[in-house]
Amino acid sequence: MLNGANAVNAMENSAHGAPRYHMADCLEREISWFCAVLDARIQMYFEHENAPDSIHRCPPPAMRDFSSPYAHVVSSLNLGFNDRIAVILALLPHIRPQVLDTFFIKNKNFDRGFTEFGGILGKNHGGFLPTGETLAFILAGDDLLARASVLTLFEDQHPLMREHIISLDDHAAGEPFLSGALRVTTEYLSRFIKGVSHRPSFGIDFPAKRLTTPLAFEDLVLDADAIEEVEHISTWLACTDVIMNDWGLKKTIKPGYRALFYGPPGTGKTLTATLLGARFNMDVYRIDLASVVSKYIGETEKNLAGVFDQAENRNWILFFDEADALFGKRTQTASSNDRHANQEVSYLLQRVEDFKGTVILATNLKSNIDEAFARRFQSMVYFPMPDAGQRLRLWQSIVGEQCSVDKDVDFWCLAEKYELSGGAITNVVRYGAIRALRHGRGAITTADFTAGITRELRKEGKTV
Ligand SMILES: Nc1ncnc2c1ncn2[C@@H]1O[C@H](COP(=O)(O)OP(=O)(O)OP(=O)(O)O)[C@@H](O)[C@H]1O
Ligand SMILES: [Mg+2]
Repeated sequence: MLNGANAVNAMENSAHGAPRYHMADCLEREISWFCAVLDARIQMYFEHENAPDSIHRCPPPAMRDFSSPYAHVVSSLNLGFNDRIAVILALLPHIRPQVLDTFFIKNKNFDRGFTEFGGILGKNHGGFLPTGETLAFILAGDDLLARASVLTLFEDQHPLMREHIISLDDHAAGEPFLSGALRVTTEYLSRFIKGVSHRPSFGIDFPAKRLTTPLAFEDLVLDADAIEEVEHISTWLACTDVIMNDWGLKKTIKPGYRALFYGPPGTGKTLTATLLGARFNMDVYRIDLASVVSKYIGETEKNLAGVFDQAENRNWILFFDEADALFGKRTQTASSNDRHANQEVSYLLQRVEDFKGTVILATNLKSNIDEAFARRFQSMVYFPMPDAGQRLRLWQSIVGEQCSVDKDVDFWCLAEKYELSGGAITNVVRYGAIRALRHGRGAITTADFTAGITRELRKEGKTV
């Protein structure tokens, strides 16, 4: 498979077509098992009569026969008893919060909850929100050795952490490590309960927007050099796994791919990035650097880190538009604001360089690009203004078959005479259609198109 030959993708594929009841049924069994383990722990801890001697008397349910995302994660990562209790505990507030109400029992000696249960209260959520301490209580009781093994679940190389399935919030300064809230990540919550990958929406916290297009690769009109480069990137996307793993090049080649698309406005940079994503079933997220770098000073690093982190674990293409905002700022250090922006720029450059997925940066101004940085791109793709032949193809594909055009319109003549980008032609066609209908015409005439062309050229400071 593509770059995304990771557990996440394989899981998504297998989840498709998985009957919904499998998803619910498998979680239901895991919850029942959790309840049995919790019950055993409580009985043991409070020394009930006939309490079992170990929580391990309750074996976890087999997941082999399920085709749900949860079962897939359990079997592909070979999750054991402790791992599974951690995951289901983190999921419970979302799917069956009342199961954790047991933890509200009061310690009568002190007229307060039990410290050993951990847990925090939410702002609006009325139930018990587990912390690392809650997990340690269930898995270890007051056995110090067993408690130490709970800590290993939160080490970087542990599959639950490595795959970003659960997380432990940072504890407050000076407080115990396990006092952080135990959470399931948004991505896995979405996968486990809905069977689909989570798609974040645009906001200050997530300054990226997903790009889509109804167009197909066949609609793309590019010159031979650009096509060659785009095919080169395509081959990388299709064969990353072969190159890195089968051919063993991951020892020497840095993971990820960085491409720079440059050229005049409206020449197809954004469209090409979007189509590359569509071709390889990868979501493309656009980050407008001009607005990110200037608007959210201070917050930028954190938010961009979030975008990079999320992108790294999925199969996304990150598309940075107006990348000159990044390159342009580096040298000016007049004010403290500039210095701050510089720090963010350096941070971004570092993240772009270390990113393990695909990053495409787009700019109109290649001359602004730092040479040191330019060397770090695997592809630099120039998107020139289309020549007359390409303009004709653009006119024909943008107007399409369905649109009513007056029989006298000579596209070859329009293409040859007016040097317009694909983006500008799109605007002209829209203008022409509106103008024709406004004047009660059933078809767009040459005059409608030329009126649109005049407006477009005027925008660019040219006259006809
Ligand atoms: N090379 C092209 N082939 C086909 N369609 C094109 C091409 N260039 C532009 N278009 C049309 O124009 C629209 C705008 O192009 P696009 O947004 O990709 O330009 P851009 O290079 O990203 O411009 P900018 O630098 O202003 O961001 C596209 O959605 C498409 O309809
Ligand atoms: Mg663009």
